[in-house]
Amino acid sequence: MSFTVPHDELGHLEKQVQAALRTADDSSLDILGHGEVTLVLRLRTDHGAYACKRLPVFPDRARFERYRRSLDEYLRRLTDSGLNVADTQVWHTHRPAGRIVAYCVQRELPERRLCSRLLHTEDETWAKDFFSRFLDQVDRTVSPSLGLDAQASNWIDMGGELTYLDVTSPLMRDDKGREKLDVRLFFTSLPWVLRDAVRLSLSKSIFDKFYGTRGVLLDFLGNLHKERLDSLIPAFLDQANGRLTEPITAEEVAAYYRDDARMWELIQRLRKADRFWHLKVLRRPYPFLLPPPVDR
Ligand SMILES: Nc1ncnc2c1ncn2[C@@H]1O[C@H](COP(=O)(O)OP(=O)(O)OP(=O)(O)O)[C@@H](O)[C@H]1O
Ligand SMILES: [Mg+2]
Repeated sequence: MSFTVPHDELGHLEKQVQAALRTADDSSLDILGHGEVTLVLRLRTDHGAYACKRLPVFPDRARFERYRRSLDEYLRRLTDSGLNVADTQVWHTHRPAGRIVAYCVQRELPERRLCSRLLHTEDETWAKDFFSRFLDQVDRTVSPSLGLDAQASNWIDMGGELTYLDVTSPLMRDDKGREKLDVRLFFTSLPWVLRDAVRLSLSKSIFDKFYGTRGVLLDFLGNLHKERLDSLIPAFLDQANGRLTEPITAEEVAAYYRDDARMWELIQRLRKADRFWHLKVLRRPYPFLLPPPVDR
């Protein structure tokens, strides 16, 4: 169901974020959750609460419009493939020099129904039923031109229906297999030492996995290690391998997770160093909200 973005309240939230970046202190922000890349902020209003996902600052209107079109296309294609996607709207405001700050806004959904949480609180029967519904969704949606970042923390289960949350980076590829996402812009939070290397070599491998059922499942299963849900892996492997031509092994999941964890660890360490450099050496605000350290 559609909703109206609370314009004034978002303007106020953005002012708070700017103050937090200026002072390098995000303790005044109401943090709803986070991923590897950024924070998700909660906005309470008289008409309910919202999840607000701040995007990298767009250098000009054209880049912003391109993003908005690709997000619309992504939401439409996911919905057409039968996926239930959290209703998402884009709010934006202008900054000096033609720059644009934008947020993806969703209604706040009940956190206790987050699948990464339910896999801890519910029993194995629930977990298996969840995973079978999850496999149906992934199978139906993923293709070489339409990707999904399907980790357990990106889904909410309400009344036996899965809703997908993590749409801020639209995963779509053109006929030549090139990312439609403004990869350069979405990697601006990576320090410059990494950016070119990442863009050229890592980006293909970072993204490849999202465009095939096997890769999406490997990523999902690998992340169960991070969520301390390893005990579910054998049962899920049985279920997953029933649908794959090339089965996944437990060793492959563990090795995948080790590599993935190492990569994110490195990225996070370099971003912290970059933030230190901005704040202490350049004496300039660091322009991104960073997620808290992750215990891997
Ligand atoms: N609509 C929502 N309602 C309630 N909680 C949400 C909502 N959207 C996101 N969250 C919380 O924030 C977390 C991160 O959100 P999301 O997956 O959309 O972004 P992300 O993982 O930070 O993106 P990225 O993977 O690019 O870093 C979720 O796991 C969840 O805990
Ligand atoms: Mg996420």
